[in-house]
Amino acid sequence: MSSINYAEKIPNNVNLVTDRNLQRALEHWQPKFLDWWHVMGPTDFEKADVYLRTAISVDAQGWAHYGAVKMPDYRWGIFLADAVPDRKIGFGDQMGQPVWQQVPGEYRSTLRRLIVTQGDTEPASVEQQRMLGHTCPSMYDLRNLFQINVEEGRHLWAMVYLLHAYFGRDGREEAEELLERHSGDTNKPRILTTFNEPMTDWLSLFCFTYFTDRDGKYQLKSFAESAFDPLSRTCRFMLTEEAHHMFVGETGISRVVKRTLEVMKELGTDDPAKIRAHGAIDLQTVQKYLNFWCSSSLDLFGSEISSNSAANFASGMKGRPDEATYQDHVLRDVQMKIATPQGEETVPMLNALNEVMRESYLKDCEIGLKRWNRMIERAGHALRLTLPSSRFRRSIGPWAGATVDPSGAPVDKATYDKKLGEWIPSEGDRAFVHSLMQKVIEPGKMAAWIAPPERGINNLAIDYEYVKLH
Ligand SMILES: [Fe+2]
Ligand SMILES: [Fe+2]
Repeated sequence: MSSINYAEKIPNNVNLVTDRNLQRALEHWQPKFLDWWHVMGPTDFEKADVYLRTAISVDAQGWAHYGAVKMPDYRWGIFLADAVPDRKIGFGDQMGQPVWQQVPGEYRSTLRRLIVTQGDTEPASVEQQRMLGHTCPSMYDLRNLFQINVEEGRHLWAMVYLLHAYFGRDGREEAEELLERHSGDTNKPRILTTFNEPMTDWLSLFCFTYFTDRDGKYQLKSFAESAFDPLSRTCRFMLTEEAHHMFVGETGISRVVKRTLEVMKELGTDDPAKIRAHGAIDLQTVQKYLNFWCSSSLDLFGSEISSNSAANFASGMKGRPDEATYQDHVLRDVQMKIATPQGEETVPMLNALNEVMRESYLKDCEIGLKRWNRMIERAGHALRLTLPSSRFRRSIGPWAGATVDPSGAPVDKATYDKKLGEWIPSEGDRAFVHSLMQKVIEPGKMAAWIAPPERGINNLAIDYEYVKLH
C-alpha cells in the first residue's frame, strides 16, 4: 500500500490506475501545473541540477530519496499516509462513528472550501518566493529554498487530488482556479492576505517559514484529525515534509542571530548603526521582522469567536491539533473566556476553537525564541527577542484595527501610527535588509549577514555543490 508507483506519469500510492477517469483528469491537469511552474515557479534555475529529496514511500523510515534533479523534472505525486484500520471519528457530535471515505452531501461545500483554502496557500508561497534564488546567501540556502518550493508544489498536488477524486466537476474547476489566482495579483489574488505579502529578502523567507509554515503545520494537524479520511491521510503525509520548512526558518533565524552576535563581539558594540555598517542585521531589526510575520500569521487562524469553527468541529470536519491530548472531545458543555477590546466575553468553547489553536501555535513558536535568546544571553547581552501579543496588528477578529503595541497594551491612534515603523520593518529597514541581499553561490561560502549552518543536508558537507548551475 505504501510503496509509490514511479512507472506512472503521476507517481502515487492511491492506485490511480484502477480509476481511469480520475487518472485522465489528473493527467489533463498535469501539463497545466507544469505551465504554471515554468511561469510562476523559481526564475532562471530550470536547468540547474538541484540536490533534492523526493518522496518514495510513506514509511517513517526512509520515505525520501536524495539526488540531483532539475526542478521541472521533479516527480510531483500523490501520497497518502497508510489507512488506519477501523478508524473512528475522534471528536465532535459523531464521535465514535466510522470515518467517512466519501464526502457526506451536507458537508460538501464546506469541505471543498477548506481544501481549496489550504490548497491555495501552497502555490502562493512558491509564487512569493520565486525571485529569492537570485539573492541566496549560500548554495546550501538556495537548495533549501528549492526543496521547499518543489514540496509546496507537491502539496498543491495533494489538495488537487482530493478535489478531483471527491468533488466531481466543482472540484475540477477549483483545481483550475488554484493555478489562476496569483500571489499579489490585483485582479485575482490568493485567498489569504499573508500569501499576498511580497517577499523580497531572505530574512522574510526565514520568518515566513518559521511562522507561516508553522501555521500550515497547525492547519494540517487539525485536518489530520478530520472525519473525512482521505483528507486526514493526505495531511498526515504532508506534515512529514513540512517539518523541513520550519527547520529552514528556525535555523535561518538562528544563523542570522549568531552572525549578528559575532559582529557585536568583534566590534565591541551593540549600536545598530555600527552593526549595520559591518553588514550584519541588528537584533532590533530581527525583532521587527518577527513582529511582522508573526502577527500576519496569527490572522490565518481566523476570528477569536467563530461559528464556522464550531460547525467544522461539531461535524467532524476539522479537529484540534493533537486532538487525542484533550480530555473532552465533544465540547458541548464548556465555555471559554475571550478577551476583546470591549472586555471579556464568555463564549461556548466550540466557538473559541480558532483561539485554542492560536494559543497552542504561539506556544510552539516560543521554542525558537528560547533558543535564540539563550544565544543572546550567553553572549552577555540584555536584549531578548519576543513574540508580539496576539492582539497586535490584527486584521481579523475582535482586535482587528485595535491600536495596541506589540506587548498588547492599548495606545492611542496617533502613537500607534507614529510608532508602527519602530515595531514592524520601516521602508528604511527593508531597504537596508534588501541592500544585503547579494547572491553568494560558491560552495560553502556564506553572505556576511548569516553564519554557516551547523551541518549540511543528508550528512553531506556544508561546501557540497548542492546546486549545479550550468
Ligand atoms: Fe505546504
Ligand atoms: Fe511548507
